[in-house]
Amino acid sequence: MHTILAKKQLSPNVTRLDVLAPRIAEIKKPGQFVILRAREGDERIPLTIADADPTQGTIALVIQAVGKSTREIVAMEVCDAIRDISGPLGHPTELISSGRALCVGGGVGTAVVHPIAKALHAQGVQVTSVIGGRAKEWVIFEEELNRLGEVIVCTDDGSHGRKGFVTDAAKEVLEAGGIDVVYAVGPVPMMRAVANLTRPFGVHTIVSLNPVMVDGTGMCGGCRVDVGGETKFACVDGPEFDGHQVDFDLLADRLQTYREFEQRANACADGQCRIRR
Ligand code: NAD
Ligand code: FES
Repeated sequence: MHTILAKKQLSPNVTRLDVLAPRIAEIKKPGQFVILRAREGDERIPLTIADADPTQGTIALVIQAVGKSTREIVAMEVCDAIRDISGPLGHPTELISSGRALCVGGGVGTAVVHPIAKALHAQGVQVTSVIGGRAKEWVIFEEELNRLGEVIVCTDDGSHGRKGFVTDAAKEVLEAGGIDVVYAVGPVPMMRAVANLTRPFGVHTIVSLNPVMVDGTGMCGGCRVDVGGETKFACVDGPEFDGHQVDFDLLADRLQTYREFEQRANACADGQCRIRR
């Protein structure tokens, strides 16, 4: 059992839980994730390890409450316990050891960018972060990223930082030159836009993919994606891939597959279930 030691609301539908998981906190690397089940028989949810404190034995999980299961997890309180957490899973991030990196985080994806920026900073890489949200209250991890280098904040409505998408600010950083690698995590349209933006600059671009996952061990095939014309399993071959090689259309299509089931599960959880038995 993994006790929740701290809980913090980061944005209107994003919650941070600091959870006891000493073994994972000790060995996890940036870019890796866990799969958790809140209770016996619950859905398995993949979540990036946004931070870890090996001394306290805790890992930070950042959860966007979008479906029935994620809403149930964020309803848990400090001292409640999560039934099981498997991990760390996936390949660690391919980190450069010197030079300058641009980290682009869109919405809740900024929580995934944070451990990457932290690891780059620890190796002496100069980090510039461009992070964005719909409005001020949707911007997360700004304070933490500020400790690691320059941060440019963008909001869709201009209520905080610059008005516009993260790609607008990222374009200016790339035009100024000197960027060796770009790491981008966020909604699929954002990662696709960043990959399209960096291609003419010839800058290596790493994206973290979030297809539907079930087992997280390469057995079920649920997380398959197309990278460079080859089928890859995001859980064991990724979750990070070369953004210039990813088939984003297929990823977006596959993410829609269970939308109807999710809407139904949400409706049932709200007591509006109309399924005939
Ligand atoms: P959002 O839709 O509010 O967008 C966040 C920011 O991303 C925007 O403010 C904007 O700056 C940028 N953005 C969005 N669309 C863009 C576009 N077409 N071009 C350029 N920039 C764009 O984000 P959200 O609601 O926090 O994120 C939700 C999505 O992120 C979900 O679909 C979720 O599955 C995905 N997600 C992905 C990962 C991952 O590992 N890739 C992790 C967590 C969540
Ligand atoms: Fe089952 Fe990746 S989640 S193969």
